[in-house]
Parts: sequence; structure tokens; C-alpha cells
Amino acid sequence: MNATPSLLPGHPHIAFQDNDLRVEGARLKDLAQAHGTPLFVYSKASMLDALAAYQRGFAGRKARICYAMKANSSLGVLQVFAQAGCGFDIVSGGELDRVLAAGGDPAKVIFSGVGKTRAEMRQALQAGIGCFNVESEAELEVLNDVALALNQVAPVSLRVNPNVDPKTHPYISTGLKGNKFGIAHERALDTYRRAAGLPGLKVVGIDCHIGSQITEETPYLDAMDRVLDLVEAVEAAGIALRHIDFGGGLGINYNGDQPPAADALWGRLFAKLDARGFGDREFMIEPGRSLVGNAGVCVTEVLYLKPGEQKNFCIIDAAMNDLPRPAMYQAFHAIVPVSRRDSGAGTSTYDVVGPVCESGDWIGRDRTLSVQPGDLLAVLSAGAYCMSMASNYNTRGRAAEVLVDGPHSHLIRERENAADQMRAERLVR
Ligand code: LLP
Repeated sequence: MNATPSLLPGHPHIAFQDNDLRVEGARLKDLAQAHGTPLFVYSKASMLDALAAYQRGFAGRKARICYAMKANSSLGVLQVFAQAGCGFDIVSGGELDRVLAAGGDPAKVIFSGVGKTRAEMRQALQAGIGCFNVESEAELEVLNDVALALNQVAPVSLRVNPNVDPKTHPYISTGLKGNKFGIAHERALDTYRRAAGLPGLKVVGIDCHIGSQITEETPYLDAMDRVLDLVEAVEAAGIALRHIDFGGGLGINYNGDQPPAADALWGRLFAKLDARGFGDREFMIEPGRSLVGNAGVCVTEVLYLKPGEQKNFCIIDAAMNDLPRPAMYQAFHAIVPVSRRDSGAGTSTYDVVGPVCESGDWIGRDRTLSVQPGDLLAVLSAGAYCMSMASNYNTRGRAAEVLVDGPHSHLIRERENAADQMRAERLVR
């Protein structure tokens, strides 16, 4: 028996102990037995460690970390970040409802997104959010109307598109000219002038976001230069900017990826900011994936093994509706056994697939595994953009979720059943 915890690279607090995979103090096989599979399990300590790396990077600066809750918007996860003093980056009225339900402070909420509706703007103004990240000139005019009708002044920051290549998957690049996001760099100054002249708006900041799962430093440093050029131009035009919001967070290690550490990157960004005379501004960032991605796993049971001429399939009870990233972005998630066998019986190469009726329903390709039906597997790096993008396709109920906090495990979401899914539907009478 091996009593020494073996750490999985990039997954602090998730480790094998005595051949059983644990998340903090909890054995995954016990959690699966108690709650069934597929089951998402999150480590609170991992989330707080990831947050601490940003907090170290911002030490001694005026800064706010607004968790981009689209990465994982489950109430129990939001509660962790609310209690840690974070703000939230939201992209819909529904997300605002979740922040409030989880005890978040509306004054620390920033509202991003290219398609805010009037109803969402009203809801956010009435809740007293901290800032709207406005993404187009048309949106500016509508927000002004909505604020005036409520007799309020909306705090705004303009999201500028710096036209920097983040070198990530094209679906998650957001700061290039061809992307739908933000206001073009060359239009930004005029748009700031317009914003400053509208009575329902108060300009408070500037904002940019270049993409997600970024593992290189250069795009961040380049984008910062482009943003600072604009800050200079906007302030020279007499419009003060209280804060600089630098968008989303770093990439994570899915498959040997080596993103810079948050504190190291911010050290370099602050060196640039200090050199250009902006080091004493108020900063905001909106990290999502890097705060939760490697804090979570999805536990799934092997249903069948199906050997074939060209491929062997390992059919599991989790599917693309639970773990959509492989189907959507050809993303890699490591898959490991929940209990390590003593003998290496029957090792084969499998495509690990779910029960959904599509060939796109794969979770891992060409994986070497020693498994048999009834075994449990853990899909790693499943804390971000998995449950929050889960669907009911094939009328599959969404999975249950457990948050582990040291020795304590809390069920933070019950498994969804068919009645839950049909609740809002009506037969024609
Ligand atoms: N702020 C804004 C305005 C964003 O659009 C995003 C992500 C974030 C912050 C958070 O970025 P992060 O720190 O998580 O990189 N579903 C995709 C990722 C989509 C990201 C969209 N925007 C995936 O599973 O890879």
C-alpha cells in the first residue's frame, strides 16, 4: 500500500492516497457511492489557492478580483468567492440573480457582454451594480436611455478591442478585429467622448479581454500596452478613468500546458504599469477558468467496454451534455482511475465516449486504461466550463455537485431528474 499522497500535476488537493483518488479529505469512491455518477467534485482549498496567487500578484495595489462566473456559476461555488471578498463578472441578468442568491455584493459586480437587453440593464441598475462594461456605441445609447428613465446614472467602462492575438482556440479568442467583442481601438476615443457627453452615464474605467486559456505572457503584455496608449489618449481628452480592467485570467494545465503563474505575470504587468506611470490606478481582473478549472473533477462509471476492429470504446455514464468541451473545442481532459488496481490486468487503448447519440460525444481519444465495467474514472480539470455549459440533451438530467472543504463534503447541487426538466413545459389542451 502506498500511503504517500501522489499529486496530479496542476491539481493541488487532488491526490491518490492508498490507491484511492481523494479531493482534500474525501475519497471519490465514497462520494460516488453516496451521490451516484456522473458527479462533479470540487476542492474549496484549490479555489482559494488559485485566488491567493492573484491576491499575491496584487498585494500593495488597489485591485479587485471579479470572478468570471460563467466558468462555474453553481451557488455553492459563488458562495466561496463571495465569502473571500471577490466581486463577480456577469454576462446576464440570470447571473446577477445567482450572485445575489449566493450572498455576493452587487456593488462589486461588473456586467460584460455584447447583447445586454434593456430589461437586464434595468435589473442591474436597480440592484446597484458597480460597472457596465459597454461593448458598442449602440449599447451606450440604450444604456443612457434606460438609466435616464430610472432617474439614475450608470457607471460605465468601455470594453476596447486591442486587436492582439492571444494564441488560443479561435472560438475563445475575443480581442481580434474579426471578433464580435469590444469597441475597435481606433473608435474608442470618439466613443469615450460620446459617453462622457451622455447625462445618464458616468465614465469610470476602461476594459479589455483578449481571450481564454492563454498560456503565453506576450499577448497580455502587448494588450496592456495597447490599453495604456488609450488611457493616455482618453485622459488627454479630459476624461478621467478611475479603473483599468484587464479582463479574464490565465489558462490552466490540461495536458502539460505551462501558463505563467498569476503572481509572476502580474509582477511583470505591474513593472510595465509602473514604468508607464499607471501603477497606482485601481485594477480589476475577471478570471474564471484559472480559479476553478483544476479545482474540479467529474467522477463517472464505466458502463461497457466495446472492442472494435479500428477502435476500442470505453462507454461511460458522463457525456457531452455534462462535459461539452471535447465536442466543442476538441479539448483535452485527463482521465484517471478513481481506484488504482494492484495488478495491471487488461490495459488497452480506448476512445472514452458517453451515451449520447452522436459521434461527437467523446470525452477522451486514444487513452490507455486498465478498466472494466463498474469501475470509476475521474475526468480532470472539470471545474470550469463543464457544469456551467451542461445541457439536458437526450433528456439527461444534469449531474450532482459536491464541494469538499477539508474533511467536510457538501452536496451543493442535487442530481436533476426528468420531472425537474419537464417542469416548465405544457401539453397543448
Ligand atoms: N471576462 C470576459 C469578458 C470573458 O469573456 C471571459 C471568458 C472571462 C472574463 C473569463 O475568462 P477566463 O479567465 O475563464 O479565461 N467555454 C470556453 C471558454 C469561454 C470563455 C469566454 N469568456 C471553454 O470551455 O474553453
